[in-house]
Amino acid sequence: MTRHDQHSFSEPADARVTHVAIDLTADFEAHVFSGTATLTVEAIPSAKDVVLDTKTLTIEGATDQAGEPLAFHLAAADPILGRALHVALPADRRTVVVKYRTSPGAGALQWLRPSQTAGGKHPYVFSQGEAILTRTWIPTQDSPGVRQTYDARIVVPAALHAVMSAEQLTPQGELLPGGRQRAFRFRLDKPVAPYLIAIAIGDIAFKAVGPRSGVYAEPSVVDKAAWEFADLEKMIEAAESIGGPYDWGRYDVLVMPPSFPFGGMENPRLTFATPTVLAGDRSLTSLVAHELAHSWSGNLVTNATWSDFWLNEGFTTYFENRIMEALYGADRAEMLQALGRQDLLGFFEESKDKPGEQVLHIDLTGRDPDAAATTVPYEKGAAFVRMVEHDVGRPRFDPWLRGYFQRHAYTSLTTDQFLADFRQYLLQDDAGLEARMRVEEWLEKPGLPSNAVATRSAAFDRVDEAARRFAGGAAPGTVETSDWTTQEWQRFLSSLPASLTTAQMAALDAAFRFTASGNSEILFTWLRLAIPRHYEPAVPALERFLTSQGRRKFLTPLYKDLLASGWGKEEAKRIYLKARPLYHSVATGTLDPIVGAGAGGSASSQ
Ligand code: BES
Ligand code: ZN
Repeated sequence: MTRHDQHSFSEPADARVTHVAIDLTADFEAHVFSGTATLTVEAIPSAKDVVLDTKTLTIEGATDQAGEPLAFHLAAADPILGRALHVALPADRRTVVVKYRTSPGAGALQWLRPSQTAGGKHPYVFSQGEAILTRTWIPTQDSPGVRQTYDARIVVPAALHAVMSAEQLTPQGELLPGGRQRAFRFRLDKPVAPYLIAIAIGDIAFKAVGPRSGVYAEPSVVDKAAWEFADLEKMIEAAESIGGPYDWGRYDVLVMPPSFPFGGMENPRLTFATPTVLAGDRSLTSLVAHELAHSWSGNLVTNATWSDFWLNEGFTTYFENRIMEALYGADRAEMLQALGRQDLLGFFEESKDKPGEQVLHIDLTGRDPDAAATTVPYEKGAAFVRMVEHDVGRPRFDPWLRGYFQRHAYTSLTTDQFLADFRQYLLQDDAGLEARMRVEEWLEKPGLPSNAVATRSAAFDRVDEAARRFAGGAAPGTVETSDWTTQEWQRFLSSLPASLTTAQMAALDAAFRFTASGNSEILFTWLRLAIPRHYEPAVPALERFLTSQGRRKFLTPLYKDLLASGWGKEEAKRIYLKARPLYHSVATGTLDPIVGAGAGGSASSQ
């Protein structure tokens, strides 16, 4: 039995949703989805009702399968969790139909005007479910421990295409009588956590890349995307050699509009990815390796509660790196590890006074799980897995990892349940080994235990040396950089000393044209140097970057840097006011309290 999930009102031990069928019409004028969710429920004999999660949903009615009304009740709103919806169980005790509509401010959904898309002609809408946003567009049991299969019928304006994290039953849709609307049908027959139910509707085209993979994007982006992700099939094969057979059928990538708040989201069969990874040189594809890895760690075996989030992201970050190693070699993998470690140590420095933030098995009492999405579950989680791998060796570790995915496929685990498997199958109940690994310290204590495997990269040693020479007065031209990859540039820029002057920045810019970089990661790192030094030539590029993409990982540090800089305080507020309509609620939810310009108001809490 999984421990209770404090971020869901549901009582799955009494009545559990096992399947959700949605039938929704997208209204691009009102920014509303309306229709029905038909839930299949498994209830124990004493259960009187089924409890669902909702947030900012208007519930118009509840019926049984035959349309007979069922009593329902919406409880008071919690600002984080929303409102519990209690529906009386019908006579068959199995099928409950909820008629509802979403609100225009639904946290999961972003409705984009045509001008906010690449093509500029058609509107677009997409959902982001993780962590607890699915309840803002589907009334279901929104807990990662309550796996559900799903199917959907989605009605959209005839010119648009709908895609979902599921099998497409009608790739071109079916024109409805009158010719103004098109219906698309989908089905996912593998049970998934509800945060993985995802949709996008827009002017979306497709291009195949491999036998079971391809890219979706707006027509003007799809060729570039297909080129960038040409290695998809190789990546899937590399992942299978680590995790076991890919069990989801197809693996496609949907390149999102620029406002997508994350780098990527591992929606089953259809990863959603930010367009900021289209660097034009395939240098940022580790992001796809990451989302693909979630097909095992996350989608096959899932965290049961958000306190166990490190199980999803830590294993995935480890797995991502193994894929990169298999495809591009140990050097590239080591560089990526080192960059991750640098981020983690930086976060530890920032969070010195909040040790609770540094714990893998985190206490989220009273908090939005979104707050736990720091680098800790990712990089400290991966460091834990790497420590284990290093201690027992790959010949013992690799079969355990694959077995772990097999033993728990299509289930959700707490940290304690993970530990039970780990002790039985990997440690083989060797308590001495567990003590030597300091497992309890890794999972329950702040900081990085001293048995973490040190990251080392010969390539980065050379880069660090170059950065030292440059900082010591050498001209940029004397530093040998012709074969540097994006990762080496990231390292170079992030290891320049605090004493770096604007004159030195100008010399670097003249030699390497950072301000004009089309690589989002390099530009981001460069802008973080520019802000505290008020390096004027980069200011227009900074504004362009903040107003042309909505990835929270880029936005948050840049706005914070601006606010801390003195000169940039008013600029931050001015730019935010202008850019805010572009951003998804996940980004504004983080940024409103930081930039303090809650213009337009935050999402209602009902
Ligand atoms: N599942 C996450 C995205 C996420 C995390 C959504 C927490 C909601 C709450 C996804 O797999 C992810 O980790 N994305 C990263 C990219 C990755 C390469 C580290 C991101 O978006 O930055
Ligand atoms: Zn992830």
